[in-house]
Amino acid sequence: MTFNGPTQVITRIASPEDALSLGLLGIQVFLDTYATEGVRDSIAQAALDAFSPATLSNVMATPGTLLVVAEINHHLVGFAQIALHTEHNLIANSNAAQLQRLYVQERFTGKGIGFALLQSAERHARLGGAPLLWATVWVGNPRALGFYPRQGYEYLGPTSYTLQNETHENALFAKFFE
Ligand SMILES: CC(C)(COP(=O)(O)OP(=O)(O)OC[C@H]1O[C@@H](n2cnc3c(N)ncnc32)[C@H](O)[C@@H]1OP(=O)(O)O)[C@@H](O)C(=O)NCCC(=O)NCCS
Repeated sequence: MTFNGPTQVITRIASPEDALSLGLLGIQVFLDTYATEGVRDSIAQAALDAFSPATLSNVMATPGTLLVVAEINHHLVGFAQIALHTEHNLIANSNAAQLQRLYVQERFTGKGIGFALLQSAERHARLGGAPLLWATVWVGNPRALGFYPRQGYEYLGPTSYTLQNETHENALFAKFFE
């Protein structure tokens, strides 16, 4: 999808050649979002594990998992990761799709890129036969806690996320398709 805003943004499915830049972008947004008290080993290890080019290449090769990137002038500025058939105990539907990541580089936030990536994620979830798309948000991320409800997502309850050996409180949101 292409749209005209202040700058032209293109959203497209990631290709294996994107793995290196996607990894660095992922680390940058991950640290901006989750390293709110600075960097400790658990955060450093989680970032390096999750966003190595090898890990991202595996994600791209995983059936039912899709990465959509947002690009401006041949530079990656954001991405969304969607996985089909992802169950959660707060959602009794094995066909549900999960938005596993929605990351926009900080300097490109507030320009409609998160919105465009979310639209794309929802489109791919529907095309994959999912009746809903769900996402979890860390309770220490107020911007994202406000973003999903304004995009039509319902709060379904608290959940937890394990980062290395740490447990963090998250909130689960879902949008049910018509
Ligand atoms: C949360 C995040 C994904 C939001 O993305 P963003 O690019 O900053 O948000 P956008 O600019 O697309 O959207 C902002 C607003 O414009 C609106 N908007 C933008 N384009 C629009 C369009 N074409 N039509 C209608 N509404 C539009 C959105 O609805 C939204 O409205 P709001 O102010 O009521 O929330 C982004 O801030 C981010 O990546 N943060 C860091 C990582 C993170 O926290 N990810 C989420 C983890 S769960």
